[in-house]
Amino acid sequence: MWKLFNAVLLAACCSNLYIHARQMSPSHLKARQQAVMDARRSASSRVTDRKTNSTGPQNITFTNPKASEFYVDGASIPEVTFDVGPSWAGLLPISSSPNETRKLPNIQHLSATLGLTAVPAGLLEENGPFSWSPGTAAPVVNEYSWTNLSSVLWIEQPTGVGFSQGEPNIKGEDDLAAQLVGFLQQFLEIFSELKGKNFYITGESYAGMYVPYIANYIYENPGTVDLNLKGIWIGDPTTSWNVVHTQIPALHFVKKYKNVFAFNSTYMDHLEKKSARCHYTDYFEKHVSYPPKGLLPLPGRSTESDPDCDIWDDIFEAALIINPAFNVYRIFDVLPVLWDVLGFPGSFPNIQSSPLYFDRMDVKEAIHAPVDVNWTECANINVFPQGDNSLPSSLSVLPNVIEKSERSVIVHGLADFVLIAEGTRIAIQNMTWNGKQGFQNPIQSESFLLDGVGSFGNMHSERGLAYVEVSLSGHMVPEYQPQAAFQLMQYLMGFRDSP
Ligand SMILES: *[C@@H]1O[C@H](CO)[C@@H](O)[C@H](O)[C@H]1NC(C)=O
Ligand SMILES: *[C@@H]1O[C@H](CO)[C@@H](O)[C@H](O)[C@H]1NC(C)=O
Ligand SMILES: *[C@@H]1O[C@H](CO)[C@@H](O)[C@H](O)[C@H]1NC(C)=O
Ligand SMILES: *[C@@H]1O[C@H](CO)[C@@H](O)[C@H](O)[C@H]1NC(C)=O
Ligand SMILES: *[C@@H]1O[C@H](CO)[C@@H](O)[C@H](O)[C@H]1NC(C)=O
Ligand SMILES: *[C@@H]1O[C@H](CO)[C@@H](O)[C@H](O)[C@H]1NC(C)=O
Ligand SMILES: *[C@@H]1O[C@H](CO)[C@@H](O)[C@H](O)[C@H]1NC(C)=O
Repeated sequence: MWKLFNAVLLAACCSNLYIHARQMSPSHLKARQQAVMDARRSASSRVTDRKTNSTGPQNITFTNPKASEFYVDGASIPEVTFDVGPSWAGLLPISSSPNETRKLPNIQHLSATLGLTAVPAGLLEENGPFSWSPGTAAPVVNEYSWTNLSSVLWIEQPTGVGFSQGEPNIKGEDDLAAQLVGFLQQFLEIFSELKGKNFYITGESYAGMYVPYIANYIYENPGTVDLNLKGIWIGDPTTSWNVVHTQIPALHFVKKYKNVFAFNSTYMDHLEKKSARCHYTDYFEKHVSYPPKGLLPLPGRSTESDPDCDIWDDIFEAALIINPAFNVYRIFDVLPVLWDVLGFPGSFPNIQSSPLYFDRMDVKEAIHAPVDVNWTECANINVFPQGDNSLPSSLSVLPNVIEKSERSVIVHGLADFVLIAEGTRIAIQNMTWNGKQGFQNPIQSESFLLDGVGSFGNMHSERGLAYVEVSLSGHMVPEYQPQAAFQLMQYLMGFRDSP
């Protein structure tokens, strides 16, 4: 009798709550959401105002008559119904040689300092003045556009990708850096008002290689580029071996997001055995400490994975059985796979509207892109024809770049499975910069505070390097958590004292 009574009471209580939530009117819900967004907005702009004391970057006019050939009217960008302000776009050669066939496309949005970011997808879906995210009907104003903080130069590189011209011929990251520096020299001849400006280089994913090598090249060849390089920002970056970024932390990641993966217990047992056998499970306990006890070993013999130790692909395949929309770039996604103007919302292509945005004739014309090139987000071409012969950046140039920079930021989305945040923790603990190896003090949980919200991930900063893990973000932090990315750019550029 008591049991039944309890059960009934419980049911009544739950359905009361349920009705209560349902009864909150759509306008009430909308008002609550608005209040949350307003709190974030006002906290965020307070920080900008206090530190910069300005309403944003100032406009620049370019006196070189050639600049006008690149001018893009911000009021006439296809499908964008608002004015995004002036920008400049087009192809520029990577050297001054008159027979130079290799050209890189760029789009530039202006002001006093200059940031550089690697992918044009970034412009449209991550940090540009408007954003058109997967699944949405039309572009909207990006409140957290990095153009509020600085001039931004988006470059599609290396040679071989997107709208770029010429045959790829680079052997490694130093060649890539030399070509990009060649491009910047040509760029500054035309947009010479930007010479001498403070300069920051940013990128994501494999740009964890590109960005440190480009920065290193500039620091080690002073005078080659007339810009004042001050720091770098890399998001969900490749800085170490594949085994470090994907294999060692894979099972721990699955366990942390147990209900998202929703694996059955038989399969979990299989993963536990495999992870233990491959020396992944106890890796953190044995080798990752603050400060580190010495150089960190590989778990086996391979920098990829030993035979029968590829647990990452094992997990990916099983995840696709449970969730056919499983997105390695943001694990929360479920069916349907959202449509995307760039054709690639996540793990799978989804082209519901053809041609892709950058493949439209009106878009190509608007941004002075070559009209005879078919644009795709992921080039079906090997940009390193013989492979990339460079060592991972954390084991080569990254320490020097951090030492020469005023500030460096590594950011990582916590819901990214393509490269896993805990792998970056290993890379950092195995890296020696400014006289010491790794962080000396542990990364405190809940230590990254998002303005107007509170704890939004984990953060640690030592000897010129800030490492930040962002909650609810997949691989592309500026796309998934634009406010966090913006806040970290403010930090990088010295507009705030802590990340
Ligand atoms: C910021 O602006 C205020 C008001 O215009 C002015 O009084 C103040 O001197 C400025 N501070 C700096 C650091 O420029
Ligand atoms: C910069 O130019 C844009 C477009 O012409 C204009 O709307 C904006 O007010 C200008 N900003 C400044 C700070 O002069
Ligand atoms: C351009 O011509 C010069 C001199 O003929 C040659 O050394 C160079 O390799 C050429 N560059 C390209 C990109 O073809
Ligand atoms: C960026 O600038 C736009 C236009 O001035 C403004 O509406 C927006 O609030 C700014 N965003 C931030 C985060 O400062
Ligand atoms: C740690 O660094 C050493 C020396 O650079 C390198 O040989 C080793 O592979 C690195 N270990 C890991 C786990 O990346
Ligand atoms: C458990 O998951 C594995 C891997 O997806 C699958 O092969 C197996 O059939 C599943 N077993 C049950 C009982 O669902
Ligand atoms: C671009 O795609 C069209 C249609 O598929 C094809 O006819 C054309 O040859 C392609 N152009 C290039 C440069 O690949």
